[in-house]
This record gives sequence, structure tokens and C-alpha cells, in this order.
Amino acid sequence: MTHSADQPASPHTPEAHQDTWLEQPEAESPAPDPTPPRRRANDLDGKAWTRYSISIWSDIEKTAEERALKHPAMFPAALAERLITIFTNRSQVVVFDPFAGVGSTIVAAQRLGKHGIGIELNPAFAELARTRCTQPTLFTDQQGTATIHTANALHTATILAAQSVDLVVTSPPYWNILNQKRTADYKAIRTYSDTDTDLGNIADYDEFLQQLQRVFAGVYDVLQRGGYCCVVVMDIRRKHRFYPFHSDVADVMQALGFIYDDLIIWDRRHEYNNMRPLGYPSVFRVNKAHEFILIFQKPHAEDSHGSATD
Ligand SMILES: C[S@@+](CC[C@H](N)C(=O)[O-])C[C@H]1O[C@@H](n2cnc3c(N)ncnc32)[C@H](O)[C@@H]1O
Repeated sequence: MTHSADQPASPHTPEAHQDTWLEQPEAESPAPDPTPPRRRANDLDGKAWTRYSISIWSDIEKTAEERALKHPAMFPAALAERLITIFTNRSQVVVFDPFAGVGSTIVAAQRLGKHGIGIELNPAFAELARTRCTQPTLFTDQQGTATIHTANALHTATILAAQSVDLVVTSPPYWNILNQKRTADYKAIRTYSDTDTDLGNIADYDEFLQQLQRVFAGVYDVLQRGGYCCVVVMDIRRKHRFYPFHSDVADVMQALGFIYDDLIIWDRRHEYNNMRPLGYPSVFRVNKAHEFILIFQKPHAEDSHGSATD
């Protein structure tokens, strides 16, 4: 019996070559199996594998401690933790976030006994991330390590070695939406910083996408072949114009050579309890209460899609 590519292998299921071996004449030694043993994608059991494979995640929200950090656009460490358990096995330990913020990905990696590496432009956020990573947790028995660089993500390829990262879990600035008035929930304007190198301060959308592409070109270089890059984003509306940011990020990533593997909806409806009828009564507008988790993979073989730096 063989396993289909989409089904988890059960540890109790006999492999095809074992059945074949039993059919050999007793006196002869078995022919060597030309198929290398199948590498596990991760260490999930079948139950967790099935639960996480459902395309809408509605069970992840920030903890009270995370909300108290007051970062304008962080995701819960639990989100990164789930992605790390899905997209790494026990031998894949280096997890990187080029837009580390207050370090949710790094905290998650550390809790899982991995090596978390982050780059964050804003020194105050980077310091907060370092503080979070030194706090004792319930998970101290399998503590990993954490390194946060206060730097520009455009310099990723000079900070990390080529193909030294097993997984990327990140969320870039959503263009400069933090600079605009929040009509959906009236939240106060809070930007990441006022520096020019902050991608969240680029006024022109196309220029913003170009800079994002430059960052992800560096990410491509430092990621192992076959490694995954998960990017959490939300679409954007500015007055009458809709910007399908998740599609534009997908285009940017594919132009670099990444394979667009899939996407998951992160359902955040339970966090939005102050919705109002946007556009009412003249034009119907959608209240966005979800984010996209875009899943990209660097091809295994260099020649299958080319390289970001070709
Ligand atoms: C969406 S937030 C990431 C939050 C993070 N996922 C967390 O949970 O804390 C984007 C982050 O990118 C940072 N940033 C903006 N431009 C950057 C750049 N050029 N290099 C590195 N970080 C940058 C911002 O300061 C902000 O913290």
C-alpha cells in the first residue's frame, strides 16, 4: 500500500517495499529498495494534521498579554506556532521573520525548541521582542534560541547565510494603511515609525510592492530549497479603490521564483465587535474580518523555477 501525497502516513501502515520483500524466495536476499525512505513533512499526528488542514482557521486570537503589547499590527504567537509545526519537521530548526515586530514568530519558534531569527527596523519593537524572548514560559523544557537584529529587512542576504533558513513566517506592513483614518472600527492612527526605510511609510503602492519584492528576493536567497515562506496579509481599500494586496503579494513572490502553494483564511470575526454598515446607504462596502495566510515554497531544484537573483 502506498500513501497518496495528501494523506499522512500512519506509523502502523506497512510500506510497499515490506510487502514486496515478503514475497521473495527464502534463499535469496532482498533486492535493494531504490526508493529512499519518505521524509516526514512534520511531526503532527493524523488528528492535528486533519484539523490544521481545514482552510479556515477560526480558533486563533491574541492573548491578553499580546494585546497589552500595543503593537499596531501583530499576529498571535499561536498563529506562528501552528505554521511552524506544519511546515517544519524535527530536523528543520531555523525559523526567520524579516518583519519581526514584537517577535511573535521568534517567540513561537523558541517555545518549540527551534532557533528563531528576526529582523525589525524599529528599535523599540526589536527590544520588546528581545524582552519577550527572555521571559520564562511554561515551555521552558524545550526552549530554543532567539536572535533579533535591529536592521532593515532589505539587508537580509547580508545578515544571514544563503540557504540557512528552514522556514519563514512573516507579515509585512500592509502598505501605509496605518497612516489612514480607520473608518471600519474608528481605531486611532498608530504607525510603526516615521523613518523612510519603513515600508509602511511608502506612499506609492507600486513603489511599495517593488520594495517588498526586494526584501523577499533576499528572503528567497536565505531560504533552503524546498523551504516554505508563509506571509500573513490583508486586502486594502482606499476610498473608491480596492487593492487586492494578497494577489499582488502572490504575483511578487512568483516573479521571484516561489511556488504559490496554497492559502488559508485566518478568520478574525470574533475580534471585530464594533462593525458598522460601511458605505450605507449609497455603496455597499465589505467589512474585512479575515486575513490571508499565503503559503509559498522555494522549489527543490534550482532549474525548476529559477532563482530570485538570476
Ligand atoms: C505587520 S508588522 C509585523 C508584526 C509581527 N508579525 C508581530 O507579530 O509582532 C510589520 C513590521 O515590519 C516592520 N518594518 C517596516 N519596514 C521594515 C524594514 N524595512 N525592515 C524591517 N522591518 C520593517 C515594522 O516596524 C513592523 O513592526
